[in-house]
Amino acid sequence: MSARILDGKALAGRIEDSIRAEAASFSRVAGRPPRLVVVLVGDVAASASYVKSKAAAAARVGIDAEVVRVPASADTQTLVELVRALAREEQGSVDGILVQLPLPAHVDTQAVLDSVPADRDVDGFHPENAGLLSQGRPRFVPCTAAGVQRMLVDAGIATAGREAVIIGRSDIVGKPLALLLSGRGEGGDATVTLCHSRSDDLAAICRRADILVAAVGKPGLVTAGMVKPGAAVVDVGINRVADATASGGSRLVGDVDFAGVSAVAGWISPVPGGVGPLTVAMLLANTLLAAELRLGRRA
Ligand code: GUN
Repeated sequence: MSARILDGKALAGRIEDSIRAEAASFSRVAGRPPRLVVVLVGDVAASASYVKSKAAAAARVGIDAEVVRVPASADTQTLVELVRALAREEQGSVDGILVQLPLPAHVDTQAVLDSVPADRDVDGFHPENAGLLSQGRPRFVPCTAAGVQRMLVDAGIATAGREAVIIGRSDIVGKPLALLLSGRGEGGDATVTLCHSRSDDLAAICRRADILVAAVGKPGLVTAGMVKPGAAVVDVGINRVADATASGGSRLVGDVDFAGVSAVAGWISPVPGGVGPLTVAMLLANTLLAAELRLGRRA
């Protein structure tokens, strides 16, 4: 079997088209575009690259995005005060605030994330938004988890009654995705197993999966022998590895052995071009939602 490709880039393009139309409509009514501020602390190359993609995507759909760069030496209090000031800025014209992770080790990440008001929390990390998701009444859903569910729905991959296995229990991806896939309705109603570094016999659990999601950050973690024939395999990992073919170069790979697993799976998402572009598209959708909620255009 040769797996069909879950083309996140193409889907993200279609999502951007609909957001562009809605953002234009918002701008006509509000007299200003939706506005996103991204806080980038330090100069980690990967974070800078993700932030650049987010700002470029926002520009493509008519969302005003600003990147606020802060030196890596900034302490927790400085970052908390910065976020609070952004939330107050210009009579509240900042609709969405995103603090790019990871933050430097000396910073209390939770304290900084908690300072983003729940109604600007386009990452969906605030306890209020996490709580709403866990109660089955989502408002801002973490972007990568939302993107994975959207990818499955768009491809017509049934989730209801099927076994979904997620590897990785992060607050950003694994936990919210487990809630989405086990929740009621479209893209949900699955029987979900959430695996992590302490799970016994990971391979055996993975082999049960009709839908297998890898979100760990470990190249080559999922091999062909861990995949049920015909399963949908979604690769959330983004790992930079040395490129054996180019001298001194590097390339991006996921957590899944793409070549081997493609021969067994029914569907597979590539890296790059799979979940990554959808994460960005979902951030745009959350920013538009934040703007519309604040204007009273959505309940
Ligand atoms: N770093 C990696 N993924 C994410 C994400 O979804 N949101 C933020 N803020 N930082 C990240």
